[in-house]
Amino acid sequence: MNAFRIRPATGEDARVLADMLVEAANWDPARARSRVTVLEDPAVRHYVAGWQRPGDFGCVAEDARGVAVGACWARLFPANAPGYGFVAAGVPELTLGVYPQWRAQGAGRALLRELAREAAARGHARLSLSVQRANFAQRLYISEGYVTVASSETADTMVRTVR
Ligand SMILES: CC(C)(COP(=O)(O)OP(=O)(O)OC[C@H]1O[C@@H](n2cnc3c(N)ncnc32)[C@H](O)[C@@H]1OP(=O)(O)O)[C@@H](O)C(=O)NCCC(=O)NCCS
Repeated sequence: MNAFRIRPATGEDARVLADMLVEAANWDPARARSRVTVLEDPAVRHYVAGWQRPGDFGCVAEDARGVAVGACWARLFPANAPGYGFVAAGVPELTLGVYPQWRAQGAGRALLRELAREAAARGHARLSLSVQRANFAQRLYISEGYVTVASSETADTMVRTVR
């Protein structure tokens, strides 16, 4: 297995997070949109716009040379401009992505675990997310303790207690 390490995300990581947001939005290659189209979509853009704001937190996995492997981060949304996985003001919603060449090597799970640790350290009680049921990532979330709390036709909102 290739080695990666995980460090806190900083304001310098906006590009990596945007890359991972595009990967998350384009999880289904059959329905992939261009990077520009994804990042101009207001419903998607607000997961990274203005990164890193007060209250934003996350982690980046990087290889031995310091090149990003993937990222997981969380942001608070207001009730009047919620994310897809919004459950309540004060519950951060996470986004997760790993560059394609690094997938299935443990980075996604390691990033999720580190984000949960960081959320607890910041005093949060829960994390939320939204996932399409057809995305295998849902099985990863279930195995990390996320539970479905709301569903649409194709997607679930999931929540995990972090302390
Ligand atoms: C979802 C994603 C972040 C997972 O990251 P990853 O580094 O590949 O995941 P891991 O290597 O930690 O694997 C986690 C689990 O998923 C399983 N898995 C990995 N790739 C898989 C695949 N293509 N199909 C089915 N299961 C898979 C692994 O076997 C592992 O389970 P295990 O520990 O029981 O063996 C990554 O695939 C990705 O970036 N996908 C596109 C973006 C996306 O869908 N983000 C989530 C949006 S909600």
